Amino acid sequence: MFQNNTIKGFSKLSKEEKLELVSNYFNDSNTAIDELKEFWHPDQRKQKLFDEFSENTLSNFFFPFGVAPNMTINGKNYMVPMVIEESSVVAAASSSAKYWAERGGFKAKIISTEKIGQVHFLWNGALEKLNKHLPALKEEFISGTKQITARMEERGGGISGFEFLDFTSELDHYFQLKVTFETKDSMGANFINSCLEEFAQILKNYLLSNPEFSSGEKECTIIMSILSNYTPNCLVEASVECEIPRLKNADINMEAEEFASKFEKAVRIAQIDTFRATTHNKGIFNGIDAVVLATGNDFRAIEACGHTYAARNGKYRSLTDISLENGKFKYTLRIPLALGTVGGLTKLHPLAKRSLELLGNPNSEELMMIVAVAGLANNFGAIKSLVTKGIQQGHMKMHLFNILNQYHANEVEKSQAVEYFQDKKVSVKKVSDYLASIRG
Ligand code: MEV
Repeated sequence: MFQNNTIKGFSKLSKEEKLELVSNYFNDSNTAIDELKEFWHPDQRKQKLFDEFSENTLSNFFFPFGVAPNMTINGKNYMVPMVIEESSVVAAASSSAKYWAERGGFKAKIISTEKIGQVHFLWNGALEKLNKHLPALKEEFISGTKQITARMEERGGGISGFEFLDFTSELDHYFQLKVTFETKDSMGANFINSCLEEFAQILKNYLLSNPEFSSGEKECTIIMSILSNYTPNCLVEASVECEIPRLKNADINMEAEEFASKFEKAVRIAQIDTFRATTHNKGIFNGIDAVVLATGNDFRAIEACGHTYAARNGKYRSLTDISLENGKFKYTLRIPLALGTVGGLTKLHPLAKRSLELLGNPNSEELMMIVAVAGLANNFGAIKSLVTKGIQQGHMKMHLFNILNQYHANEVEKSQAVEYFQDKKVSVKKVSDYLASIRG
């Protein structure tokens, strides 16, 4: 039942008290509580770990954890962990992995690894004056953050550049300090944000204490200091390539040349039409998000960045590109991926830790390549189906179990249904009719 009154101090309640309170929102309070408790981890220490990942935790929300085998990247074979609820994603990644393993595998390379942070502030002065003081400020920024950067520098990372930007034509008095960082194997959010908050204070003090600034220039208002999730220079490229005749495969009931041509048109369409581009890129993120999630990385950051990158030239387009030159099919995905293999949940979540182990404990650059390849593999699988047999045949076959579960089919009914639908189209109506027929 919906409660109208404001709840005070909810986060301070014990877990049992929270459950008790929340149970009022269900029609079957007791059953609902039992069901939420059913998903608690039997090991209390493990459950506590999960509880502490977040706030107001009541239970755990299960997602399937699967793997796509045979993902050959730069000649190395990977077993790629994927956490995803959409039934056809792991199947598509696996079948693309197998398809390309027979054609030389995936290639991947790192283009750049730079991260970005910003201090947004209001100031009453001219950009030239800030720039004149930038060399002296830089020294103060660097020395004032030594405590934060020392360990990062030992690992080969740190602060790589400072720049003042003038946005006063768009917002009165708005300036920005834009900072670039190398964060090695960590995604670096905490490191970057800690540095930025220090820079903001250092900037404020510098303006206040330096006699070269007039009284009007001494004051600056810090609006906020935060990393940017848009990292266009933390870029990876994944690709596949083969002679066009080699695209022929028993799975594709189409001549290789026709397949290549239709595939190319499908990609061009996603470069022209934003509606199609969104779905095309969604298919890429099917693979990317699944691996990002499995390895305990921040999928919201990855999505936000990827979509911004897709619109970098003023129009939202496909993240992939294709060429059919000199008889060769070459398909490429370029995407910024700010990923970490240390810090965050990567080692804290027991299954994220196992995911990284499955991948041979890659560093962040290797993980960037694996994730990009998973995106390309899923997208290739989707386009391959779309331009040949269509998406529904495979999709609905994978969806069959969901439909059977929806109708509470038992194990015998499930195996009968799988056999029956082997050579038939699956739809909710057809499955429900079939179950009705065998149930008499
Ligand atoms: C479904 O999750 C993803 C697709 O729609 C992607 C695409 O259309 O390219 C199949």
